[in-house]
Amino acid sequence: NSDLIQKTNERYRETLPNLPRGKGWMTEHLVQYQGVWLTPNAALKGLMWVQDHFKPRSTDIFLATFPKTGTTWLKALTFATFNRTRYGFADHPLLTTVPHGCLPFLDACPNDLDGFPSPRLLSTHIPYTLLPNSMTVNQSCRFAYICRDPKDVLVSKWLFMNKLRPKELAPISLEEAFELFCQGISHYGPYWDHVLGYWKASLETPEKVLFLKYEELKEEPSVVVKRLGEFLGHPFSLQEESEGVVEEIVKLCSFENLSNLEVNKWSVLKLLSTQITIDNRHFFRKGKVGDWKSYLTDEMVKRINEITSEKLLGSGLVF
Ligand code: A3P
Repeated sequence: NSDLIQKTNERYRETLPNLPRGKGWMTEHLVQYQGVWLTPNAALKGLMWVQDHFKPRSTDIFLATFPKTGTTWLKALTFATFNRTRYGFADHPLLTTVPHGCLPFLDACPNDLDGFPSPRLLSTHIPYTLLPNSMTVNQSCRFAYICRDPKDVLVSKWLFMNKLRPKELAPISLEEAFELFCQGISHYGPYWDHVLGYWKASLETPEKVLFLKYEELKEEPSVVVKRLGEFLGHPFSLQEESEGVVEEIVKLCSFENLSNLEVNKWSVLKLLSTQITIDNRHFFRKGKVGDWKSYLTDEMVKRINEITSEKLLGSGLVF
């Protein structure tokens, strides 16, 4: 086993120097590996570990997202839906733990995973096309994916990254963030390729990949939560529906509720894989659809919309 880990470490050391480099959004630059932009340390190492060593189970359920598309929200909803008979709403873990603490990232906890009881609920930002066959074909895990209007993803990411940037560095300007995002140089980007990978998989194997949109979730949260329940293999019973369980989950996980909890206002999340500490409050900004209107110029909107139409052309997917 340690020989195999050694091999991955060698693969990493040999691969890294030859990868194209792009400007980072934080202190670290990004590297392009198999077409995808990643942080060289945490993300690339994590990905290689998953590709070489992760042992999926057919019962595994993943929450897959591109950063800033609604990861925190979908984590809360999935955790609450899946565990709804286990926890009461008055003393629910989500009232005292940030959603990221309830549903861990796959590549952030390699040592513990084998000990997790089935079915395992995990999350990942890895694009579908880079996942090993063992996850998508052989064991065929299930994936719940959420996407969002690229304009809102960009604005959310830009503001988030500036909050995480060390104080001694100047903030990234919107113009620069826009350029990087449009060129695809963004963690796990290009964004459009990420979305299309999961979109195509959801068309091919809808029972394995549930494709959701942030905007739909905002519009009709109860409808989406019911779909989520079915997908997770725990459909809501008529009795649960009449007792208002779906609405309780929606309320528990709402932006208003989560963002006002003490834990999400004052505590921090330690990301072990990166050594980075993030204030939980940064995961909750506005939670609105269309906030890009307050930031992007007409020219920016035109360009990003053109990229989106071009990239999604013929896919059947629209934003
Ligand atoms: P904004 O910056 O547009 O407000 P991620 O969780 O993938 O990092 O995405 C963060 C985005 O989701 C942020 O968007 C954040 O405010 C929003 N968000 C977090 N929790 C939410 C919730 N419970 N409901 C709706 N949006 C939420």
